[in-house]
Amino acid sequence: MSRRYLFSSLSATLVIFPLAFAYSQQSHPSNQAISSQSMIPATVAPISTNQVALSTTAPAVPPGGMQASSSQAPGAERSSYNSIRVDGPYIAMTFDDGPDAKLTPKLLDILKERHIHATFFVLGERVKDHPEILQREIAEGHEVGNHSWDHKALNKLAEGGLQHELTDTSDLIKQTIGKPVTLMRPPYGATNPRLSRAIEKEYAMKVILWSVDPDDWKDPGASVVSSRILNGWKQSGGAKPGAIILSHDIHKGTIEAMPATLDALLAKGYQFVTISELLALESKNPAPTPTPAAQQAAKSKRGQS
Ligand code: NI
Repeated sequence: MSRRYLFSSLSATLVIFPLAFAYSQQSHPSNQAISSQSMIPATVAPISTNQVALSTTAPAVPPGGMQASSSQAPGAERSSYNSIRVDGPYIAMTFDDGPDAKLTPKLLDILKERHIHATFFVLGERVKDHPEILQREIAEGHEVGNHSWDHKALNKLAEGGLQHELTDTSDLIKQTIGKPVTLMRPPYGATNPRLSRAIEKEYAMKVILWSVDPDDWKDPGASVVSSRILNGWKQSGGAKPGAIILSHDIHKGTIEAMPATLDALLAKGYQFVTISELLALESKNPAPTPTPAAQQAAKSKRGQS
């Protein structure tokens, strides 16, 4: 696909999806500069609603693994990832909008004490000021992804702006940590299948969204953040095998929530992996197909409604 065709198509997309963006503007009057927000992207499909058995044993994984969510029809190429279908109790913590001079090092201490590896989606303008924090993240086994240069909604940018947000950030990260960036999280989750495919094909980064969103950027308090991650709330399910959990390492309440949250997830048997590790753990087993009993139940349910 040529660049020219791609970006004229992106412009058309802006006309098609004005309501989604209007919603994102409306819901974030003051935090747009640095906060990822709660807009559930059009591409989000909720992962299985099956509850994970809460016990001290490893979390239950349904036969055939967790369902990977996707904006695509079954069998079609995936353009972005909200969660991954896995055969074990794997989970990925992700932290956006950093690095923060004070809070990120605190979080790194918390993760290190628990031997937990996470993924940091960083802003180019902040990496510029704190390259040493990125280097520590890599040295301690974490993964780093691109979260744009200064948190612009990528789906409203022209080619030049998009290139700055993506390429300049990736170049700076590569220069800082000595390896290329392969993951990208669009600010606000503001993307669409066409843009996500362009980010993968033209900028060589997979688009990573999330399945658990505690809205921690609104600073609801540490215990609320913790409860939302563990149990879910609103449209956002809680932690499940294969989940990608969204948080921000620029908010004090989030950092305060982490020790108890991480300890609770460890106690339930979860194993923390980076996003690239989670992608590599995707189940090779076929996705579960409805059993005759389930199909019958669905039929009779339809009949009653
Ligand atoms: Ni963000």
